[in-house]
Amino acid sequence: MAQKTESSHFEKRVFKPGAAFSKAARIKSMADYHKLHAESIKSPEKFWAREAAELTWQQKWTKVMEWKVPFAKWFLGGKLNISENCVDRHALNPARKNKAAIIFEGEPGDTRTLTYQQLHREVCKAANMLKANGVKAKDRVIIYMPMVPEAVIAMLACARLGAVHSVIFGGFSANAIFDRINDSGATHVITADGGWRRAKIVALKDNVDSALKMGTTTVKRVIVLKRTGQEISMLEGRDTWWHDEIAKVTADCPAKGLDSEHPLFILYTSGSTGKPKGILHTTGGYAVQTYVTSKYIFDLRDDDIYWCTADVGWVTGHSYITYGPLLNGATVLMYEGAPDTPHMGRFWEIVEKYQATILYTAPTAIRAFIKWGDEHVRKYNLSSLRLLGSVGEPINPEAWMWYHRMIGNERCPIVDTWWQTETGAILISPLPGATPAKPGTATLPFFGVDAAIVDESGKEVPKGAQGRLVIRKPWPSMLRTLWGDKQRYADVYWKEYKKLGYYLTGDGAKRDKDGYFWIIGRLDDVLNVSGHRLGTAEVESALVSHPAVAEAAVVGRPDEIKGQGVVAFVTVKTGQQASQELAKALKAHVTKEIGAIARPDDIRFTTALPKTRSGKIMRRLLKEICTGGEVKGDTTTLEDFSVVAALAQSGKEED
Ligand code: WT7
Repeated sequence: MAQKTESSHFEKRVFKPGAAFSKAARIKSMADYHKLHAESIKSPEKFWAREAAELTWQQKWTKVMEWKVPFAKWFLGGKLNISENCVDRHALNPARKNKAAIIFEGEPGDTRTLTYQQLHREVCKAANMLKANGVKAKDRVIIYMPMVPEAVIAMLACARLGAVHSVIFGGFSANAIFDRINDSGATHVITADGGWRRAKIVALKDNVDSALKMGTTTVKRVIVLKRTGQEISMLEGRDTWWHDEIAKVTADCPAKGLDSEHPLFILYTSGSTGKPKGILHTTGGYAVQTYVTSKYIFDLRDDDIYWCTADVGWVTGHSYITYGPLLNGATVLMYEGAPDTPHMGRFWEIVEKYQATILYTAPTAIRAFIKWGDEHVRKYNLSSLRLLGSVGEPINPEAWMWYHRMIGNERCPIVDTWWQTETGAILISPLPGATPAKPGTATLPFFGVDAAIVDESGKEVPKGAQGRLVIRKPWPSMLRTLWGDKQRYADVYWKEYKKLGYYLTGDGAKRDKDGYFWIIGRLDDVLNVSGHRLGTAEVESALVSHPAVAEAAVVGRPDEIKGQGVVAFVTVKTGQQASQELAKALKAHVTKEIGAIARPDDIRFTTALPKTRSGKIMRRLLKEICTGGEVKGDTTTLEDFSVVAALAQSGKEED
């Protein structure tokens, strides 16, 4: 989380949308927002049903919502196919079929454009390819791919058949793949030989090979897209090339009408304890809410070139690269590689080249651009941009102001969108033509979203006071369960306010006098590194799996670029030597076990960790130590204070 959001005073600067922007927008004023929001809270089902009617249903629902805490169902009795809604609906519309659906640029500079008609053909063929390779409805399909159009095509092809995709971020390691395959019971993997990142090949197929060697799995077939072209190994009978398989099938694949609650995808995300959680999203409600939020929050127009810089491996890439924009028939710009390859102006070069009108990115990227210097931005003409977005963590006001000035030329509204993997879609955000923005706040809840900040008893806290952010009523795109673990689902999100039926977000927040929501950050032991969630427990167990390590505790500390950096406190086994070499080896070990995103920035060796008498590691104290502050909090439950004193002292010596 960014440092500045901790400050107690609220940001005073207010930026109203320009008159011309408001005039053309769907929601033009705060009066309109308040009216619609009030109505949508009074009768959410009416609001969602009206919006849902804009999509294509093979069979209309009979009931909008059913809520048996903590299990919700939306659009009961309805049948639809999200792939049909993303693709066929536009490909069969004469006015849209020749419109670009995806404009792609690879890191090496190669480009491709797929019209809706062409995307339709590719999705149908890919679905037939999956079918021919044995994929059936409800089978789980792992997608571990670079940011190329085939990643989106693979997702839509699964959805077309009713197969459940689980996309794994290309930066994750073989271990992470192995765990996710096992947890989901996946039968198929779609991957590529490699992807381009910083002019190097990310060896995706090699990682899949290593994962499948780690033990027996349910995987029967691996389909491999040729992207980077280097030599890879193909296992006879298991592995097959995408281009060979696609050549065997036709482009005739009618979209199957699926039950509204048919599972759409599983996406793994970190929690504070235990293994990653398989967040399950289903079809109807997810389709409706990603469609509606994209429409109002990005205020999509037919001539927009919309660019979301996220990776398909994260939820943002699901909801706001693939489903939301395509449901709206938008033109989606997709870039494969790193923002600094081959130069630090690559993003701005892309904006200028394709005349992007909407840019949706993360505070961590913005802070990197600030660091790299304005000269990389100034070289390019960014006048095509009309709207900017931010997601992933609280945006610090300095970064907001730079984004506003340097990228938006003080002309483009910024939508700071708060949501989570679990929420499926944006829940708190400005509406660009209506909401006056203030740097650092996601402002107000979207239509149909009943957000509140409450205390431990569930009572709303007064304005200005910090509390827990909860959602008081179910929403269409909410997660339905954790894959294979209903109990954990109920415990993590609903146990705290069981009687009230409130969803616990895990974030701390407060509201200002205008009712704006200021997100402070996570209340649990979850880190937010570069806008992505990392569980302390995951990094700790990776460290402990190293033969030299006895015990590890991981905490976050403010980081200028990443938001939070990872600090690991480590005790070594008897007979092992704490050393610089070991620290280096441990960093490499975590990279191998989880991926570079989890690599500790700092390893601090210690002879003991501060624990409570019941043996629980007091991470709060460690956090205080590594932010350089004094240990001020309550230490009465601490077993041995000398441990803390020693740690604090060693930190000072290092500085
Ligand atoms: C957590 C969810 C949502 C897609 C990307 C991250 C933090 C997210 C904001 C924002 C303040 C934000 C929260 C949230 N977060 N967006 N605009 N302002 N905080 O998805 O990995 O599921 O993480 O990211 O702490 O709980 P995720």
